[in-house]
Amino acid sequence: MEIHLKNIEFSYDRIPVLKGIDARIGKGEFVTLVGPNGSGKSTLIKCLNGILKIRKGAVLLDDHNISTYRSDRLARVMAYVPQSEQKAIPMKVFDAVLLGRKPYISWRPARRDMEVVDEILMRLNLEDVAMKEVQKLSGGQQQRVYIARALAQEPEVLLLDEPTANLDLKHQMEVLDLLRSLTSRGITVIMALHDINLASLYGTRVMMMKEGKIFASGGMEVFTAENIEELYDVKVHMIHENGSVYIIPNRYEIK
Ligand SMILES: Nc1ncnc2c1ncn2[C@@H]1O[C@H](COP(=O)(O)OP(=O)(O)O)[C@@H](O)[C@H]1O
Ligand SMILES: [Mg+2]
Repeated sequence: MEIHLKNIEFSYDRIPVLKGIDARIGKGEFVTLVGPNGSGKSTLIKCLNGILKIRKGAVLLDDHNISTYRSDRLARVMAYVPQSEQKAIPMKVFDAVLLGRKPYISWRPARRDMEVVDEILMRLNLEDVAMKEVQKLSGGQQQRVYIARALAQEPEVLLLDEPTANLDLKHQMEVLDLLRSLTSRGITVIMALHDINLASLYGTRVMMMKEGKIFASGGMEVFTAENIEELYDVKVHMIHENGSVYIIPNRYEIK
């Protein structure tokens, strides 16, 4: 499924926040959205899955405008993991993941719904905690539960807003490895990512956002000192090693 962002514009109370976003994203791509606070990453993600209605432009899935989809149909195609929920949902892991089956359930869960949940719990290493309350899990496990809930929708496109926020280094990598592995199953992953080093380490495709526009888009080549300095207004030092690039802010040269 190809996603086509066609000249998307969005305003909150007449204040323009997205000012003409154009992009095409192919099946199974792993896309990171980076950019300073307030550049419009979260807003774009919410426009992509129809939570926010765009004012001008369109989101097309294989040439079909998502505004013509019924909500349950859209939920079977696209799933969204919001920025980490401050308060964990007060239920057991199994039930939280079963919530993701809602777009498929008309009256009560069928055997297939249970099987999908079982399979996802296993795949995400959550089977041992399936009967535990979500709020009793570690931050990394909780994030896996929310990803599991989204995967229970069996989406073709997974949208995530800062999925590694509040996680320690190991759990950040674990979550990103997991997300990366989904692309080999043909799932397209699009996420806002705060940490530009993680984005450069994992992102095969990077979209840099600045003031509601795509500032730069492409592969690793967009991680240049010029782009980063322009984007964040800080001086940086770039280290190239083994095909990766590491970005270090220069403490004494804030522009
Ligand atoms: N619900 C809202 N109402 C009004 N303005 C908002 C709302 N949400 C975000 N904004 C504004 O929109 C801009 C983009 O915000 P956001 O999409 O959250 O950026 P990012 O995720 O890149 O930090 C910011 O200026 C922010 O203040
Ligand atoms: Mg945000």
